[in-house]
Amino acid sequence: MRIKPHLRVLARCLEEPVRSRWQGSKLSSAWSFQRRPSQLMHTDEAGKMFYITTPIFYVNAAPHIGHLYSAVIADCLHRSRLLRGFNSRFATGTDEHGLKIQQAAESVQKHPLAFCSEVSEKFKHLFTKSNISYTDFIRTTESRHRSAVEHFWTVLLKKGLIYKGSYEGWYSTQDESFLTPTQVTKVTDANGNEITISTESGHKVEWMKEDNYMFRLSEFRAPLQQWLRDNPSAVQPEKFYHIVLQWLDDDLPDLSVSRHKSRLQWGIGVPDDPEQTVYVWLDALVNYLTVAGYPEGHGLWWSAAHHIVGKDILKFHAIYWPAFLMAADLPLPQVVNVHSHWTVQGKKMSKSLGNVVDPLDTAQRYTVDGVRYFLLRQGVPDHDCDYDDAKLVKLLNSELADALGGLLNRCTAPSLNPTQTYPQFCPGSFPMGSPEEPKGRTKPEDYHMVQSVTELPSVVLEHLDSLHIYKALESISACVRQTNGFVQRHAPWKLDLADAADKRWHDTILHVSMECLRVYGTLLQPVVPGLADKLLSRLGVRSEERTWEVLGFLERYYGRKCAFEGRTLGPETGVLFNRLERDTGKAKPKTIKKNKLKSH
Ligand code: ME8
Ligand code: MG
Repeated sequence: MRIKPHLRVLARCLEEPVRSRWQGSKLSSAWSFQRRPSQLMHTDEAGKMFYITTPIFYVNAAPHIGHLYSAVIADCLHRSRLLRGFNSRFATGTDEHGLKIQQAAESVQKHPLAFCSEVSEKFKHLFTKSNISYTDFIRTTESRHRSAVEHFWTVLLKKGLIYKGSYEGWYSTQDESFLTPTQVTKVTDANGNEITISTESGHKVEWMKEDNYMFRLSEFRAPLQQWLRDNPSAVQPEKFYHIVLQWLDDDLPDLSVSRHKSRLQWGIGVPDDPEQTVYVWLDALVNYLTVAGYPEGHGLWWSAAHHIVGKDILKFHAIYWPAFLMAADLPLPQVVNVHSHWTVQGKKMSKSLGNVVDPLDTAQRYTVDGVRYFLLRQGVPDHDCDYDDAKLVKLLNSELADALGGLLNRCTAPSLNPTQTYPQFCPGSFPMGSPEEPKGRTKPEDYHMVQSVTELPSVVLEHLDSLHIYKALESISACVRQTNGFVQRHAPWKLDLADAADKRWHDTILHVSMECLRVYGTLLQPVVPGLADKLLSRLGVRSEERTWEVLGFLERYYGRKCAFEGRTLGPETGVLFNRLERDTGKAKPKTIKKNKLKSH
């Protein structure tokens, strides 16, 4: 017996330790997860809450398709929760402090805040254009965020988990990251000079020595290991969970969490110390709490936190952030959901390499829904994916234009559907049966199809909940193929509409196909909201009939009433998805030129 998906979610909420909590001030591996009555009280309510975040993006350069990818994943998961009746909140924003931004603003001779505002607007503009339905957009230069960081800092200081010390070691400004000697490599640069780089990111590092504040990260190694062991789904996909555990096998030195003002002015000042600025990563990570309302009233949202991050910032989200949260006696995120990178011709797309794909230009050529579909259908979280125009064109033509668009066209074209209605289903033509025992005018494959489409919503939900969006889309695509096969097999255009039995069968074929299309359109809403709306509107499905809780499928086959039968179709609004021209002349995707990036 399959558990209904929404019940499964609730069951999972109840099974999981309600909230993990840092117990007491003595730091030891005996860190335990205890249920607190006040949190238990909220379980039902919290079970229907969802708080999803993207990283907040640096404003040193314009957004590219990699940033849009994180936002589209979060948007898809947020929309899918709303369709299931969740109270969902979706935060994104910009990370505006730190040495990297300070230097970027200096290089174009702009005041840092003016520079940040300009680039932050570009992210907002891209997200609005791309149908990213965020509920919160945070900028770390806002005063609400400054208050949250100051409060957070003071809590850690009072607990004795921040102390004044000195740091000597490597620092990468590009990554805004401190590195141990084992994390760097010496290489020769293009000018023949020997330089030291971060082994992981390839970015140049510099030796620094400074008096500043240190966070007792070393004391959190065992608690972090314990958290991960007790919550094997805390970091997903599994590959990254194991990477984090492996990192924790090594020593975890204390972390410098401030910089001297002489070096870094552009940031939040350390409370009560005019000489020091808060380390940009501590500042940035707290954004997730700021949005939730920290330090007041953040409780409910905070216990439903899901972070979407790229693999480049795994260490910050799966080690530093949980350690900071434990230190502040706050619950840890439910899931840190990691995705891999988009590459261009095998090279990581990055602002510094200047090989980034411009998302606005891409959307202009292939439509917003086309880009969203491609990213989510082709993006596999465990592995890097190569962005390629030809691959995009081929995928969208085959799955959206031909398969889905073709199916809709077949069911609604006036030649096959002269009355422009959702036709009648005839149980005598398509009686309940099985592939082994087809009845009426059916074939065995028809029952396979009905079974697949009946199960599709729960299959899709399962894939979305396990963060395999591409698998959800693969399942939908497979069902679309089955429905096209169904129409092809029975060729309704060959039936004689003057014959009553043929007419009933003809209408049944269309009814079944439209029911399939209604399911596909409903399930595709989080991925391609514009296209799904067009499809559902054409079928005459009203907005209140588009939630996943009232989906239903082929009710007439199961002997129940179908609300759509006999309804007039929505107005004709043209082709669902126009076939795209194959860009044969352009093997390379159009990228943002490096000098264009520098111009702001
Ligand atoms: O790291 N492929 O900001 P950032 C896929 N401000 N995703 C990519 C990508 C690519 N080629 N390039 C970037 C920062 N991303 C910090 C985050 S959070 C508290 C602070 C996405 O502008 C991916 O999500 O460098 C990656 O983690 C993020 O952008 C990094 O953006
Ligand atoms: Mg980066």
